[in-house]
Amino acid sequence: MASTAEFAHHMIKEIFEQPQALRDTTASRVSLEEAVVRLPEVRISPQELRSLRRINIVASGTSRHAGMAGQYMILELAGVQVDVDYASEFEYSNPLIGPGELTILITQSGETADTTGAQREAKLKGSRTVAISNVVDSTIAREADGVIYTHAGPEISIASTKAFSAQMAALFLFALYLGQVRNKVPKALGQYYIRELLGLADKIKAVLRCASQCEKLADKYHRFDDFLFLGRAIHYPIAMDGALKLKEVSYVHAEGYPTGETKHGPNALIDEHLPVVIIATCDRNDPGSVVRYEKNVSNIRGFKKQSGQVIALASEGDTEVSSLADHTIYIPQAPELLLPILEIVPLQLFAYYMAVRRGLDVDRPRNLVKSVTLE
Ligand code: F6R
Repeated sequence: MASTAEFAHHMIKEIFEQPQALRDTTASRVSLEEAVVRLPEVRISPQELRSLRRINIVASGTSRHAGMAGQYMILELAGVQVDVDYASEFEYSNPLIGPGELTILITQSGETADTTGAQREAKLKGSRTVAISNVVDSTIAREADGVIYTHAGPEISIASTKAFSAQMAALFLFALYLGQVRNKVPKALGQYYIRELLGLADKIKAVLRCASQCEKLADKYHRFDDFLFLGRAIHYPIAMDGALKLKEVSYVHAEGYPTGETKHGPNALIDEHLPVVIIATCDRNDPGSVVRYEKNVSNIRGFKKQSGQVIALASEGDTEVSSLADHTIYIPQAPELLLPILEIVPLQLFAYYMAVRRGLDVDRPRNLVKSVTLE
């Protein structure tokens, strides 16, 4: 972990610890040579995993955003239907879950009351449960059938940063593992993804070099009171988390929205007073990603016609987005399913510098606690 003396706040220290956190969560669980993921701590038999009908992911706040990204990973790699719910809403939706299903609880602290309640309800209905937790031996980890620990190290700042990227990495490992158990991932594909996953820590390091650019953006935008964060598909949860970070640490109103939905309402708001942060990266090897990218470019063109101010995240080498957007932050090339782990970093940095610029208590935002143990 990084030394405290180097950093002004825990939040920025924890943002910079992400390369190490990612390595600690992933490296010991994969073999590149054999192209396999090993997760013995999941403690659910391969037969049971092969016959799973459905997976429910239940979590709160930032952890739920990781679950939303995990939904895309599991669908793509293991071909299992996944539903994602707010832990605080779980009991009201009278979930039709039962035997033959798996409920994944994602929680940094492992003590969130809503998530503990959801786990108990899922177990009562006969679902198997797996916890993804950062705290060893936490309540939720102890009560689950299986557990995947994120080894992100202690997270002190109330805003979750390194635990979030580690949760997404743990979900990716689980999706790949499940895909292998269910014979959905050929060896070459498994090897490709493991190689990419192992290379991600260095790519996060590269993204962290945009810190001074994010600081300058905060200098320019810290007086704005509203922001819109946009993303499509697996990038939408990242837009949601970028907005949540900004809200909680800088007290600036921000909304995360699916990009395509802007035409169904929020477009009316977009002008020079509502900056738009749009995730417009592209995995050129993935045809679906290219289609989404082209739609994003057309959206940016529209926002500029409406005098919108656009901060875009684009893939390295991209020139189309940067010719349209007011500001472009470059993200290294990566597979579509892993891009979110890189994209969240500049959004965390932006929220951090906005809070600093506004003179706020970054690590302890008002009215919030690190672990919500009361419903
Ligand atoms: C946001 C944040 C919260 C937590 C949420 C769940 O930065 O930290 O939204 O993600 O309270 O907490 P855990 O993951 O401990 O269950």
